[in-house]
Order: sequence, then C-alpha cells, then structure tokens
Amino acid sequence: MVSEILQACMKKGFLLDKEVLGYLEGFRSDEAENILNIIEASGVPERVISLKSFSKFSDKLVAFFEGKELSPKLLEFLSKFKKNDNKNQKKERGKVKLLAAPAFKQRKITVEDFVQHFRSRFEVLRKALELRNLENLTSLRKIGYSKGNYTIIVSVFDKRITKSKNIIFEVEDLSGRATVLVNRNRKDVFEVARNVLLDDIIAINVSGNNEILFANEIFYPEARLDEKRRSEFDEYVAFVSDFHGGSTMFLEKNLLRFVKWLNGELGDSKQKEMAGKVRYLFIVGDNIDGINHYPGQEKYLVEKTSHGQYGVVSRILKLIRKDIKMVMCPGQHDSVWVGEPQPVISEKWAPSLYEIENLYLVPNPSVVEIDGGFKVLMYHGASINRFIDEITDIRIKYGHTRPALVVKEFLKRRHLAPMHGMMDYVPCEKDSLVVEIIPDIIVTGDQHRVEVSTYNNILIVASSCWQSITPFEEKVGNVPDPCKVPIFNLKTREIKILDFSDEAGAIGLENGKTVSS
Ligand SMILES: [Fe+2]
Ligand SMILES: [Fe+2]
Repeated sequence: MVSEILQACMKKGFLLDKEVLGYLEGFRSDEAENILNIIEASGVPERVISLKSFSKFSDKLVAFFEGKELSPKLLEFLSKFKKNDNKNQKKERGKVKLLAAPAFKQRKITVEDFVQHFRSRFEVLRKALELRNLENLTSLRKIGYSKGNYTIIVSVFDKRITKSKNIIFEVEDLSGRATVLVNRNRKDVFEVARNVLLDDIIAINVSGNNEILFANEIFYPEARLDEKRRSEFDEYVAFVSDFHGGSTMFLEKNLLRFVKWLNGELGDSKQKEMAGKVRYLFIVGDNIDGINHYPGQEKYLVEKTSHGQYGVVSRILKLIRKDIKMVMCPGQHDSVWVGEPQPVISEKWAPSLYEIENLYLVPNPSVVEIDGGFKVLMYHGASINRFIDEITDIRIKYGHTRPALVVKEFLKRRHLAPMHGMMDYVPCEKDSLVVEIIPDIIVTGDQHRVEVSTYNNILIVASSCWQSITPFEEKVGNVPDPCKVPIFNLKTREIKILDFSDEAGAIGLENGKTVSS
C-alpha cells in the first residue's frame, strides 16, 4: 500500500511527509486515491505535503467526503478539520436543502424492481457493516466442510424456535444460504437474537461449517455520529405533526395558540423571546384526516374532501410569520399513496398548500439540511406500530407509550421498515427507507405522543398531534398526548417541550424543565 501511494504521488508531482503517509496508509485504497486527487486539484505549491498543507484545502476535503460511507480512520482524520468546517459554514441563514429523497419509478413495477430494491438495501448495509472491521469476514459460498470461525453479513429470511428453546436463523447473502443456531445458554447473543426481525441485515460471528453455524456475536449496521453537531446561530427548530385537519377532533384552537406564540403574540417575555428565534418548523405528516381511513370515519369529518381538509390546514399555516421556513412531508392520512416512500403532496389534491411561500413540500422520508449543517431525517412513521408488535420487549414493557425506543431500533438497523410485509412499500431503484445519510436529527410522527431522546449522538424527536383521541386510536392501543411542541436550539442543543393543551391558560412547559440532548 505504501509503495502504491508513493508511486501515485510521484506521478502527480508531490511527496508526502511521514505523518501524512502514515494516515493515508490506514485509509481504504479508494479513500487514499481520492485524497491524492484532491491534493493534486488543490494546486498547493509545496512539494512535500504535510498536515499543515491540508489546512489550505480542508474545506474541499470535508465537502468531498460529506455524506459518504467512510472508514473510522478517515472519519477521525477529517474531524481534525472540523474547526475549519465550522468556520466555513455558510453565513446565510434559513437554508433548506433537500439532501435525499426517493427516486420514484415512472413506469409499471415488475418483480425485477423488488429484486433490485432488496439488492440495493443489502449492498448499502453490507458496506456499512464492513466498516466495522469484522474478523474473518467471508461470504457463505466460501464456508466449506472444515470447521472454522467466520463473520458473515447476511439477510435473515426465516427465524424459528426449536423444542429446546434455541433460535434458528435461515440466512442468505448474494452467494448462498446457511443455517445459524443461537444457543439459549449464550445469554449475550441470545438476547440480541430474540429481537432480530425477518429481513434484518446483520453481521454474525459464527463457528462451524456449511452444515450448521453457531452464533457467537451479532452486529447491526448502527447509525452513529462521532459528535453532536452545534450551529453558530442561536436559532430554534420546532417539530409538529398529525394535525388531522378536517376532523371533528382536530384541536384547532390549540394549534392557533401555537401559531400565536410563534408570531410573538402569546406567552411570557421569555417564551416570546424564544418564539422570535424559531427559524424552522418541521411538519411530519398526517396533515389532514383523509377519507375512508377507518370504518365509520365519515361521521367524524367536518370537511369531507381533501381540498376542504387541506384548506383548513393552509388557512392556519398562512398565519405563521414568513421568516419561518416550514417543511412538510405526508403521512398515511394524506392524499398520496399509502405505500412508502410517499411522494410530495400534489397540487391537484392540495392547491391551497401551494399558495404558502414559506412552505417546502418534501416526500416521506426525506433528509433536509438546515442552518449549521444539521441534517434532519423526516419520517412519518407508518412502521412504528409494526415494530411494537414485533419487538416483544417494547410491546410488553411500554406498548405504544415510547415511540423514541422504536426510532432507536430504526437507527440500529439503519432502516425505517426492514420486514417485507411490515407495511405497504413501493420498490424504487434504491431502497429509500435505508438510513444512508446519517442524520443529526430524526423526527417522526404517527404515534401522537411526544418523546425526545438521543442515540449515538443523533437526536430523536417523536412529535405530538393536534387531534383528541379517536375511536380508531382507542382500538389500536395508541395513547395520544396532544398539543406538545418540542423546540430545539441549534446552538446550545437545549430542548424545551411547550404545552399548548390548555385552550385558554398559560403555555406549559412539559415537566417544568428543559430536556438536555
Ligand atoms: Fe396521525
Ligand atoms: Fe400516521
């Protein structure tokens, strides 16, 4: 590797000092090659490139690798230039940049599209797992009769419990299939195996041969950030979802109080000061109640068309001060197809939304970058109920009361709905429910309950709702907690949960304190 790097440098007309050479040696070959190309393109006059020289093109370096899957060594190296990165944050404020959105097929979907969908998911998550420096990594085809120790990266296509209460996984990779047994006496690995879902893509360290493999350890791809991001701007982001506009149970008066607060017309002086610093409002789906979503819904509708229902929502959003950027995605109740990913809400069904100049409509899911480089993954959360059904520990201990725990399961898997049949989905060229870009914030809706948490330096926000409990929610076991708004300061990372549930009184502060993140 060293001689290859040196030869490549000679060709490009420069040399590396010992320290830089040491770093490059630890990177993947494609990473080292890209760095040499960046040095060449940067036109630095030095013949011998030292770490000091890097400061002259560190912005290019950071920009080039941003959002890509990187080796831990390169991540560590790039963090040295973080200060420069922060300095180079654009001074413009109120940025809204769509970083990732699904690429929808514009033609009839065939079986081949489903194959491509799963293959793309496997490839992305396999690469993420490979970065974890797993020992004796091998493909299933290469495991022969002789016994050995291997790590395999596989998709789980069957899971069953044997009479002696061990777990058996049938797994596959692109080269073949295998049977993996998890012994119930191996407590650590058995605990992890209990919550493995069908179609999960995991790495397993195993012992055995091609007849049967015994699991020693299970690894998930894990979304992880090296550090928590902070912005230089003292600005707040507010998160709401599930207006269910047009329903008889829509809490319009409470939502109007929130809007009044945003506009500086409500609250004590401190609360008004905070409101003045709100720069973004994320609106995470189920904007209207929709039509025919559950039996007998019609008698709970004030507005019975999507135009009428979006009209209710637009009328309120139009009152919000124009310097607040609003970003809205759909949920299952919106007028788009139910299968995920969902496209943006179209003008055909919601013309009134298109009249709001500070509203950005995005698909579900989407990754949006805002001030300070914060990447916000918006996902309405149709799969949350199914995760609760499938993960025994969450179902039994918490039921529907802890949405953030489910979001941690998403981040662990780097997938928003791994199980085929978990919910309706639309195969795309890339599986857009894979968490490919690691976000600084993931925000969900759907459960109508607010919860804030963190996982591997990623902020999790599960947002509340603006609808009182419906008969349907009672039936499915949802426990809503309406009219709460988490607001997050991009500079201090302070979070406050404001409570607008009182129609006339003061704005409450959930638990009377600030939640740290
Ligand atoms: Fe909802
Ligand atoms: Fe929903």
